[in-house]
Amino acid sequence: MDPVAFYVAGRPEHGADPVTVRHPYDGHAVGATTNATPEQVERAIAAAHSVSAEAAALPAHARAAALDHVSRRLAERADEIAQLITAENGKPLKWARAEAARAVSTFRWAAEEARRFAGDLQRLDTDPAATGRLAVVRRFPRGPVLGISPFNFPLNLVAHKVAPAIAAGAPIVVKPAPATPLSALLLGEILAETDLPEGMFSVLPLPNDRAAGLVSDPRLPVVSFTGSGPVGASIRRSVPGKHVTLELGGNAAVLLCADWTADADLTWAASRIATFSNYQAGQSCIAVQRVFVHEWIYDGFLPRLVAAVSALQTGDPFSDATDVGPLITEAAAERVESWVDEAVAAGATLEVGGLRAGATYPPTVLSRAPKSAKVSQEEVFGPVLVVSPVTDDEAGFAAINDSAFGLQAGVFTRNLQTAFAAHRTLQVGGVIVGDVPSYRADQMPYGGVKGSGVGREGLRSAIDDYTEPRVMVLTGLDL
Ligand code: SIN
Repeated sequence: MDPVAFYVAGRPEHGADPVTVRHPYDGHAVGATTNATPEQVERAIAAAHSVSAEAAALPAHARAAALDHVSRRLAERADEIAQLITAENGKPLKWARAEAARAVSTFRWAAEEARRFAGDLQRLDTDPAATGRLAVVRRFPRGPVLGISPFNFPLNLVAHKVAPAIAAGAPIVVKPAPATPLSALLLGEILAETDLPEGMFSVLPLPNDRAAGLVSDPRLPVVSFTGSGPVGASIRRSVPGKHVTLELGGNAAVLLCADWTADADLTWAASRIATFSNYQAGQSCIAVQRVFVHEWIYDGFLPRLVAAVSALQTGDPFSDATDVGPLITEAAAERVESWVDEAVAAGATLEVGGLRAGATYPPTVLSRAPKSAKVSQEEVFGPVLVVSPVTDDEAGFAAINDSAFGLQAGVFTRNLQTAFAAHRTLQVGGVIVGDVPSYRADQMPYGGVKGSGVGREGLRSAIDDYTEPRVMVLTGLDL
């Protein structure tokens, strides 16, 4: 299998040690690349550093044209890209297609933001001493960005690092997840078709134990990391002087509120929760993990949920019939299995699921798991739901907040007061009303509080993170 090139300062190159990419479902080789050498890493960083003034001065039309080109090419190659995502990540083809379509939108939105991104005016003549003064507040890139992306969305979470950087006029060096570099390299190939200046982007396959050198390099003053909590925390600790944004996951919860009791409502909620606890085998930071249900509807709801989960098809992710594919590795599935076993040993009831086959773990529902169990406390990142009764909406909100994480939550309600109460009370980055927490539009602010991270993705929010405001005060104006 010929190794796929990676990109150093916009040019395709090969490195030294070979990397074989394997299909998580059965382990067969689906592609190959090489890891970048230290000399290639150095050239990528040096080029990002030296192009940064030119990048910041690129006119909006040039940045937008490059982003539009990438969006268009991703759309043209969407089928091929979906196959590639499924091959390296193992998510079912239907979810890979959805991811490819989202990346098209991420770049299109970035092009639109690049055209719109202008700054603000502030009146200063609100004070008599400042009569005739006006502040122009514009934002300028902080400098080159280091983007470290995870395996679970191997294209669109790379897009969420790269697209806002280009829109803001900041060079970027991307380190894709070692298990899934191929989608990022395909994105590099498309980026290389643009007229962006040399050094504006590099895509470097590297093992995780070589990331520290990039993180600490002073020529990359912004670090945007998506991945595990312990790694994110150690990045933040290691470079306190850098601007670090962290998207670290969660154990997303959903509450069926007091007004959500009609038969059709319960059935619909059960189907949404079943789908979105198991999409991508639960390997999304906003996959539903914890479900809170009022105690008087609990016994009526649980069988519907178990039926909806049981109806999901587990199997080959390339089959259109498959809803739930493998986890990224067998070791990941073994970890999920051990957490479920631990919960059951501690008194949880296994309603359905629980029998692992290689890297595939079946959709699983646990009821009444103890609060101390890992499945209740940690991020499972697997197809496991934990269902618990609550006495009322307030108790449900408290249960959602009783977590070390705070990424997104879902509240099934049509009551506007309840929706606003949830928005006010829940310690999360986003509340989805009338649906599961597993909703993300790529233009909206996305990120969390507590252990779920700092900063927000979403094109406009990420552009803000990659730039800093600079005020220009104009004086003596006849306003
Ligand atoms: C994530 O897993 O945090 C990304 C979720 C998404 O982009 O839908």
